[in-house]
Amino acid sequence: MTNSILKIDNLSKGFHAVRACENISLEINKNEVHALIGPNGAGKSTLIKLITGFLEQEYGKIFLDNQEISFLTPEERAQKGIARSFQVSSIINNFSVVQNIKLALIGKNKNYLDFLTNINLNKKLLKEAFYYLEEVGLNKKANELASSLSHGEKRKLEICIAISMAPKIFLFDEPMAGLDGESSELILQLFKKIKKRAPILLIEHDMDTVFSLADRVSVLDYGKVIVTGTVSEIKKNKTVKKVYLGTEH
Ligand SMILES: Nc1ncnc2c1ncn2[C@@H]1O[C@H](COP(=O)(O)OP(=O)(O)OP(=O)(O)O)[C@@H](O)[C@H]1O
Ligand SMILES: [Mg+2]
Repeated sequence: MTNSILKIDNLSKGFHAVRACENISLEINKNEVHALIGPNGAGKSTLIKLITGFLEQEYGKIFLDNQEISFLTPEERAQKGIARSFQVSSIINNFSVVQNIKLALIGKNKNYLDFLTNINLNKKLLKEAFYYLEEVGLNKKANELASSLSHGEKRKLEICIAISMAPKIFLFDEPMAGLDGESSELILQLFKKIKKRAPILLIEHDMDTVFSLADRVSVLDYGKVIVTGTVSEIKKNKTVKKVYLGTEH
């Protein structure tokens, strides 16, 4: 029995002369927050795009819950339980907040497609949407247009869309980017809550956030994983200090 939910095996992708991801092997365990850190251009976002199927690997394999997903489309991978957020916003701006969640739920569960003609199904759909909105604290904004939300609230809505997919893993690429301190703190607290739902692979530059959320950390440099370890191992690691934190002390 393996403890991993996502297994990346020898994954590689280059862009002309740049080796963005080179022989990356990584396992994300059930119940863990796994942070992916590294300097700009290290290959973090490329790795997320390979996992979600927005880019195709040159070679290597990806397994979700022991099933190979390396050649599935992004939609098929999402159906199988990969929830991704923040590279391209998943929000539809001229829909209300609750309509955004209903749409995500219909996408996940095709049984909901009849909600327009079936009153009971519509009620069930609405109830489920509110369950998720309450989880992120957006229930009071349910009927407002998504476009009217603040920056921080939009992040919450994106997280809400992700959790409403009931995924096997969350992938977040710099979820705090562009947020002020207060909104970042709210998102951090939300992550501490939703990590109980599914493991998280988190790309984040802010080390305080990484160290307060992550169970394990992998460090990428020039497309390669240079070390994976617990937060305290990473804090002590000399190579990490040199490459990433810019100091050996
Ligand atoms: N579509 C593309 N075409 C050409 N080169 C690309 C493309 N996407 C990424 N790269 C290059 O691949 C390397 C890795 O980029 P990537 O965006 O994965 O880095 P990153 O670790 O996410 O960086 P950052 O912290 O700045 O977001 C960089 O050298 C980048 O310029
Ligand atoms: Mg990036």
